[in-house]
Amino acid sequence: MSKVGIFDSGLGGLTVARAIARRFPASNLIYLGDTARLPYGAKSEEAVTRYAVRCVRYLVELGAETIVVACNTASACALPTLQATYGKTRVLGVIEPGARAAVAATTSGAIGVIGTERTVSSRGYHNAIAALAPDARVTALATPVLVPLVETGWIDHPVTRLTIETYLQELHSAAPGIDTLVLGCTHYPVLRTLLTELTTAIFGRTVHLVDSAEAIAEALAPALMGLRSGDRQGGLGERHFAVTDLPASFAKVAATFWPETLPPVEAVDLTMD
Ligand code: DGL
Repeated sequence: MSKVGIFDSGLGGLTVARAIARRFPASNLIYLGDTARLPYGAKSEEAVTRYAVRCVRYLVELGAETIVVACNTASACALPTLQATYGKTRVLGVIEPGARAAVAATTSGAIGVIGTERTVSSRGYHNAIAALAPDARVTALATPVLVPLVETGWIDHPVTRLTIETYLQELHSAAPGIDTLVLGCTHYPVLRTLLTELTTAIFGRTVHLVDSAEAIAEALAPALMGLRSGDRQGGLGERHFAVTDLPASFAKVAATFWPETLPPVEAVDLTMD
């Protein structure tokens, strides 16, 4: 049965794996987190592309027929190169599905995006939204401090609250009319409760939060038809987790992202060519 390879810089992509596993329980999933080179968000576009090409090769060699680039930074920097390099494999990124969901959700046409420095500087969401809705106004803000807070497990913590408040106030000053906010980083869906509360308080209205993990799971529907919960025949598909460094730490922190017990996490050495 077809295998889906999910690639992220680390463990944040488990939010994407989880959304896919929930929606298509019978799908066979191989997850690779490039923990040896994490974080991607502060690296150059060239470095991120080089790492992504190597990681996706590992998934293709394991037989993945569809690749999901769960990492927003890698999707923003490397998707065209990955698609050109692995032409026979379907390679999907999270930016386009997230942009599509944002355009569908907005009524004011003012869309906010939060993500890593590299995702924001790449203007990937700006371009994807402009292609779908040329009149939309996009304001993007780099919010990199949220990644280590989530990795520390500080999901509902005063420091995380203050950090989100500070970032949202900056976003509000730049674009008070935002009615839709793209969570343009793998880690942010975990902060949904706080983000919902604080966007409502700071923008003075409900701001629609776009979870790119859900959006990419939706985009996989044509490829994974027949593996949905309602029509699966053979129970759960296989789950394989691998990282390029520190498998034990990954397994420990992964509990924040993955509610079920993780199978043993494999350590793989992906030497850069
Ligand atoms: N996975 C990255 C992203 O979605 C966040 C972590 C990192 O900087 O590597 O952009």
